[in-house]
Amino acid sequence: MRTQVVIIGSGPAGLLLGQLLTNAGIDNVILERVSQDYVLGRIRAGVLEEGMAGLLDEAGAGERMRREGLPHDGFDLTFSGKHHRIDLHGLTGKHVIVYGQTEVTRDLMDRRAAAGGISIYEVADVHPHDFDGERPYVTYSKDGVEHRLDCDFIAGCDGYHGPSRKAVEGKGLETFERVYPFGWLGIVADVPPVSHELIYSNHPRGFALCSMRSATRSRYYVQCALDDRVEAWSDDRFWDEIRSRLPAETAEAMTTGPSIEKSIAPLRSFVAEPLRFGRLFLVGDAGHIVPPTGAKGLNLAASDVRYLFDALQEYYAEQSAAGIDGYSARALARVWKAERFSWWMTNTLHRFPDMGAFGQRIQEAELEYLTGSRAASTSLAENYVGLPY
Ligand code: FAD
Ligand code: DHB
Repeated sequence: MRTQVVIIGSGPAGLLLGQLLTNAGIDNVILERVSQDYVLGRIRAGVLEEGMAGLLDEAGAGERMRREGLPHDGFDLTFSGKHHRIDLHGLTGKHVIVYGQTEVTRDLMDRRAAAGGISIYEVADVHPHDFDGERPYVTYSKDGVEHRLDCDFIAGCDGYHGPSRKAVEGKGLETFERVYPFGWLGIVADVPPVSHELIYSNHPRGFALCSMRSATRSRYYVQCALDDRVEAWSDDRFWDEIRSRLPAETAEAMTTGPSIEKSIAPLRSFVAEPLRFGRLFLVGDAGHIVPPTGAKGLNLAASDVRYLFDALQEYYAEQSAAGIDGYSARALARVWKAERFSWWMTNTLHRFPDMGAFGQRIQEAELEYLTGSRAASTSLAENYVGLPY
């Protein structure tokens, strides 16, 4: 079989790129290791920048997000028992949209099905080949049968653990990494959110985040130890812990109930350079990871897709390789700024095992400065709503 672009991975990056290419008349096939239902069962990101929302519109998959997504004009920072609102809209003229990654994925899958796009799920042994030359191809097996897919380009949208980055090890790949000494324990519960805006809390017991998926579904997180296990966290323990990390009036207002999902995610900063190896591109989490504190992972996947889609469109429409040649540098320039922001937000809001009394005072001073200075609040706000593409 032959196609123009093979996309490895049916996460948001792969689906978004696939839909934009399909709409532009560029053939593509998506290869995915797990089933469609499994992809849809993963609960992850919740905050979309306006740039990502615009790309969903452009892909023809933004209609439900515009209808059901919750525009947020601000969020709360709590520390030392007090609330401080960051007025995103007042400071930047922009907002973010709270709409779950699960729903983004579902909308893109529905759009792809309606457009007759080919996605092959539950494939194994996916390997990119010969991307250094003019005729790359991808091999994979499905139901025990080996297949070969010839193409012009390979888009590695296969997340942090996928085969695309592995295929470029030893080919000039350089990596940069920081692993944080804690994780996030997250739950979803069908209870109304404690506040209509998100709350990021810095507390002596550790970071906490109150988010949501809708007016009736809450998404909450607490910082936990790296060796913590989900089984050790009953719902009651979780509710007691998150309430202990919030100002008293917020804790009292919180509605609790049975969790419908509970999982632990480690926190990591990671960047691969470059993001292009001949005719293979690394896109989204395959090329970089941010800790979730700044809500940037999904949004960075979207900006990569913007740059790569523009480059591929230019290649096919104008026979120009300029966009392709510039993809890595363009994407990395934005990636590193989001890496900096996510690292800073993580440092500012979490308890670190080795921070000591000096580190805590510095963190308090940072938060006081941040909430007391319009310039500092504006810097936070413009990064949070998303730097321009
Ligand atoms: P993925 O979503 O990981 O998709 C990669 C796909 O490739 C997967 O479907 C995978 O099954 C597939 N794949 C892997 N290996 C193979 C293989 N061998 N063959 C074929 N397919 C393969 N980001 C935000 O912007 N805002 C947030 O609020 C936010 N919150 C988060 C909260 C949590 C708890 C977590 C864990 C993440 C959060 N993120 C957030 C990050 C965000 O979820 C990711 O950055 C996003 O999923 C990246 O999309 P992707 O398509 O690049 O990768
Ligand atoms: C959510 C996740 C984040 O990492 C974040 O910073 C804000 C919200 C969420 O899942 O809703």
